[in-house]
Amino acid sequence: MKPYRLHAFVCQGKRCLKKGSEEIFEDMKGKVKSGGLKGEVKVSRSGCLSVCKETDEEGQYSPAMVVYPEGVWYRNITLKDVDEIIEGHFRKGKIVERLLHFRLGPKTA
Ligand code: FES
Repeated sequence: MKPYRLHAFVCQGKRCLKKGSEEIFEDMKGKVKSGGLKGEVKVSRSGCLSVCKETDEEGQYSPAMVVYPEGVWYRNITLKDVDEIIEGHFRKGKIVERLLHFRLGPKTA
């Protein structure tokens, strides 16, 4: 098996699930496959990433996801953002700045 280029985790914690993260996960996984990125990009579920707990208003930043190896954390993602994340970030390496929560790793994208 060839190593994946990117690994994306879509939060499936309860606050993100309330705001549609299961649909986002399914849509993203399906579009990665249909868009020919299946062997390059792995899309997985994650438990709570704790982004939802960062403000007084629970779930304000939900749904959240993270993409490695860049260590890019996104917040407030919606179904409408899936295409932009796939085409911009996954395919072209261009981070979707308007959804960026923070990044852990060095700037490579
Ligand atoms: S439930 Fe998704 S960040 Fe907490």
